[in-house]
Amino acid sequence: MTVIAIDGPSGVGKSSVSREVARRLGYGYLDTGAMYRAMAWLCLSRGVTDAGDVVEQVRGADLEISTDPDVREILVDGIDVTEEIRSPEVSTNVQVVSAVQDARDELIQMQRDVIAATAPGIVVEGRDITTVVSPDAPVRILMTADEAVRIARRAKENTGGADAAAIAATRAQIADRDAKDSATTSFLTASDGVHTLDTTHITFEESVAAVLGLVEAAQ
Ligand code: C5P
Repeated sequence: MTVIAIDGPSGVGKSSVSREVARRLGYGYLDTGAMYRAMAWLCLSRGVTDAGDVVEQVRGADLEISTDPDVREILVDGIDVTEEIRSPEVSTNVQVVSAVQDARDELIQMQRDVIAATAPGIVVEGRDITTVVSPDAPVRILMTADEAVRIARRAKENTGGADAAAIAATRAQIADRDAKDSATTSFLTASDGVHTLDTTHITFEESVAAVLGLVEAAQ
């Protein structure tokens, strides 16, 4: 099983690049952030915030996630939450799950199971893939970009435009999430053996080509 592990902060563009790399290689694709979001959606919709109760919810949940890069679909206990997990409420409160180590351990195990079941290879993206989920992956990449660029990219994704109001709202959201996430996962600097791909000054196509180049070099 070939695993391409990609980590990075919010708004760096790792999801769209990872999906495209998976399509070009005929690989599966796993968005681990969607799994944390789905579990946060479940906890929030049931009013569960206590760490112990969160772990219980995660253990009891039936999570199904598409690994087809062209099918964006995630189900919790049979309910399609693909759209709901992108809401501002989930984005702002996802740490209700991701800050709880026992909940992380459950999700990490599920991610490893998905990886093991997906042939011939899989692109996996998140915050701790290169370091925890798949530290032995033959290709490990940390995608970075200057904060201003990440904010503009995410604002465009959220609202379709990158005007001043959208940028101001997105700046606060990204800074807040990265600060909270940094407390549990280390994704701002590359650990040993992880390639850093700085996408500040390169296009989407160039980012895809750079990842494919690293995959080829590893073969
Ligand atoms: O990638 P995305 O921004 O959708 O991730 C949502 C949240 O899920 C992150 O802000 C983080 O709290 C959590 N996450 C994580 N570990 C991962 C992927 C996501 O803690 N591997």
